[in-house]
Amino acid sequence: MVAPLKLGIAGLGTVGAEVVRLIETQARVLAGRSGRGIRVVAVTARSKAKKRGVDLRGVEWVKDPLALATHPEVDCFVELMGGAGDPALSAVEAALGSGKSVVTANKALLAKHGIKLAKAAEKHGGALNFEAAVGAAIPVIKTLREGLAGTGINRVYGILNGTCNYILTRMEQEGLSFAECLKDAQRLGYAEANPSFDVDGHDTAQKLAILASLAFGTKVAQSAVYVEGISSIAPEDLRAAADLGYRVKLLGVAVRTATGIEQRVHPTMVPKSSSIAQVMGVTNAVTIDGEGIPPITLVGPGAGGAATASAVVADIADVARGIRANPFGRPIAQLRDTRKAPMERHEGGYYIRLLARDLPGTAATIATRLAEQKISIESIVQRHPNGAAPSGGKAVPVPVILITYATHEDGVRRALAAVQRDKVITGRPQVIRIEKN
Ligand SMILES: NC(=O)c1ccc[n+]([C@@H]2O[C@H](COP(=O)([O-])OP(=O)(O)OC[C@H]3O[C@@H](n4cnc5c(N)ncnc54)[C@H](OP(=O)(O)O)[C@@H]3O)[C@@H](O)[C@H]2O)c1
Repeated sequence: MVAPLKLGIAGLGTVGAEVVRLIETQARVLAGRSGRGIRVVAVTARSKAKKRGVDLRGVEWVKDPLALATHPEVDCFVELMGGAGDPALSAVEAALGSGKSVVTANKALLAKHGIKLAKAAEKHGGALNFEAAVGAAIPVIKTLREGLAGTGINRVYGILNGTCNYILTRMEQEGLSFAECLKDAQRLGYAEANPSFDVDGHDTAQKLAILASLAFGTKVAQSAVYVEGISSIAPEDLRAAADLGYRVKLLGVAVRTATGIEQRVHPTMVPKSSSIAQVMGVTNAVTIDGEGIPPITLVGPGAGGAATASAVVADIADVARGIRANPFGRPIAQLRDTRKAPMERHEGGYYIRLLARDLPGTAATIATRLAEQKISIESIVQRHPNGAAPSGGKAVPVPVILITYATHEDGVRRALAAVQRDKVITGRPQVIRIEKN
């Protein structure tokens, strides 16, 4: 009979406690699927006294995560403490360095140190599995790494942060402001007290950097990701998007272009008919455009203890089965440096909302500035607030909404800077990129 796989679990919070519970409640199923038993033999967390709602009788408490990582009884170290630094980093390094396998849900650690850790796993022979780090229960890592191993990938994009999607969904459906929806998200536990990491797009950027590496065979490079958050999105943008047949989502997009790999996180207008536009609330989704096949969209819960534990335990089952994949899909020596495509060369359609002074010649000035940059306008709508008639010469600002045909980002920036210098608009122009499916 094969000996059970012995786990050391560091971190017994939202995810860690659920992992312990799942391993206990699914013991028979897991043993059947993995061909051997799986047992938690030792754990650590900050506080030994805290009630966790799981049965830890017979499980050794190890005070120091590093000692747990190299514990002689532990075959597989499960890191669920979080954070890109210590103790997670040194504990994972120590476990891999002693030939153990590691399972983690820690996107911050992987986005920053993924290549170094994958090298250590390769050198010492352990597995480094991190399915839960992107999209929690959605098996997107395995899909890119294994399911699509024979398919060239042109683009991968998705809704990777439930907090942002919840806020944008409520704003759209109820016409509420960003601030109101954020407050509700915090009250319901969907957003942290300090929401910046989520709403400013950094959480999505870490996950995107991991997906881009798997999709394009490049080294994880979080610093190559262009990032914009959702705090500037106003209810009028969502209304205008709806009128034009779009929804606004915070997308992470990694795409192969002529100038390199473009990795960007920003509010994005997507056609209402697209799969990704149907994804509402805290749900996550990832679409993969592979060569020669129609796009594949995976949808599911991207956070939460049970959803995340589901992926962590699947990774543990792979270790129990003796499966060891290259963490980023290929041997480290084959991963290329990321050739970052400059954002100025980004090509696509744009939604532009301007607050134009209601004076003769304003529209002509705006049109001229766009034409100077060879930007073609697909549609232009002037919205008099509440349907009011034009003000007859008085300088009352009027929202003007433009949709452009595909053009370059630097042209849009130059045109809007010129329009601002012309003083025909007030405030800052709102710009939202359009992603076609
Ligand atoms: N929650 C989710 O929905 C979700 C989804 C996907 C991925 N993840 C990832 O999963 C990981 C865990 O997240 P979580 O939500 O479970 O976090 P959490 O609820 O804050 O739990 C963290 C756990 O780590 C322990 N811990 C923290 N610092 C420690 C230290 N220095 N030494 C020992 N133990 C320490 C804590 O101990 P105490 O309990 O004693 O304080 C706690 O048990 C993170 O990498 C996160 O990004 C989470």
